[in-house]
Amino acid sequence: MTVMEHDALAAVREAGAAERARLEARRARMRRMRFDTIAVHGVYDMEEALRNQGAIVEPVYAGPAQHFASSDAMQAALAYLVPAWAYSRIANPTVAYVEETLALLESYGSGLEASAYVTSSGMSAIHMATSPFLDVRHGTRMNIVAGARCYGGTFMLFSQRYGAERGTDVRWVSDVGDVSAWEALIDSETRFVFVETPSNPSLAVADVEALAAVAHRHAVPLIVDATVATPALLRPLALGADIVVHSVSKCLGASGAAIAGVLVSRGDVVSWTGPDALREDFATYVKLLPGRDHGPALAPASAASVLHDLRTLRARADQMSRGALRVAQFLEAHPGVDRVRYPGLPSDPGHGVASRQMRLVDAEARDGAPERFGYLLGFEVAGGPMAARRVFDRLGLVFRATDLGRVKSVATIPAISTHQQQGDVGRVLGAVPEDLVRLSVGCEHPDDLIADLDQALAGAGCM
Ligand SMILES: Cc1ncc(COP(=O)(O)O)c(C=O)c1O
Repeated sequence: MTVMEHDALAAVREAGAAERARLEARRARMRRMRFDTIAVHGVYDMEEALRNQGAIVEPVYAGPAQHFASSDAMQAALAYLVPAWAYSRIANPTVAYVEETLALLESYGSGLEASAYVTSSGMSAIHMATSPFLDVRHGTRMNIVAGARCYGGTFMLFSQRYGAERGTDVRWVSDVGDVSAWEALIDSETRFVFVETPSNPSLAVADVEALAAVAHRHAVPLIVDATVATPALLRPLALGADIVVHSVSKCLGASGAAIAGVLVSRGDVVSWTGPDALREDFATYVKLLPGRDHGPALAPASAASVLHDLRTLRARADQMSRGALRVAQFLEAHPGVDRVRYPGLPSDPGHGVASRQMRLVDAEARDGAPERFGYLLGFEVAGGPMAARRVFDRLGLVFRATDLGRVKSVATIPAISTHQQQGDVGRVLGAVPEDLVRLSVGCEHPDDLIADLDQALAGAGCM
């Protein structure tokens, strides 16, 4: 008699099916709610609270492993036959509450069903979202097509780890707004298309809908890093993207208490590579198989911190976007600034597409004008790189740090920090000049931020 024919195991599977149905009912109920309600509750409802001794806040399951009632329950869990968490490198209840919430937020209003895999950092999410497509069993000649306007870590992952170390042909698109430039680089050996929008730090805007159409014509997935937008402003799955990644360390986890990442996928990911399970439910596939084996699990305490931040996401994205627009307008009018990069400014090349794509979720019903352009901007200081350093060094309220999306405003000079390692050629490709200051606007009053920037520019002799 095989184990699968075991009576007790059948009973465990039956109980698992009931548990799965219960989770699906909670998801279905929340899909009918508004964005803010989902952000506050996720799938942690009253029944779930009662199963957690009545705790109204999601408990932190800090222990590494789950106790099982029997050998059958253990076997079924480790064979992924029933919902379980087993071991925190594979899954964890606190982390799962974050995954459920982010899957609902990313698919909000789209009619799509999405799933999420939360990881220990944004970079691990990008690695886990992309590496399953680089499977040599589908051939060793492979290429990827990616927007060069991206975070320095992503540039290094693709160019060094995938390109130099593994021989993947990395095809960079510099002008990410030019859809024909993307199409020209995709061919029958392309494994995925990757774009960051708006991009860090050059604030380039990509037309997600148009890129998804191009990628799908070639049967390759479109993966979008929407860290700078957050699902409160942009939900790429609804525009046709297959997978969305975020550095949750940023605005999603704005208090700054955790480094985390997420990948969210829709069902039926377009891909000519990989097994059926990858196409049907990519995030779950990655979590249960490659994720289990690579092990980039998020710590449960960090998951709890992210849950608390997520509850106020929409309000923060709104406030930070309004503040960023005010600051961008000030900088654009300042004689000490050569150029401001912010999609919210009508002078910005990405303004048209951003106005169409980036809208504060649920704003139509509540606030009228729904366009919001996010919290990140860049400005090039008149007088060159040394003048930019002088302005940067004189900031007295805005922190100098390689960070963004925080409730506290922070600034950096990307060429000497986040984008230092990619070298001069990489920085030209990514449009990261040495005089560019990146500013992430937080929740302070914009007048105080403007006063700080004003005194820094004046003190540096940039008038
Ligand atoms: C757009 C973007 N994606 C990904 C990352 C990487 O995220 P993490 O630092 O959480 O690994 C960053 C980090 O700054 C980022 O700005």
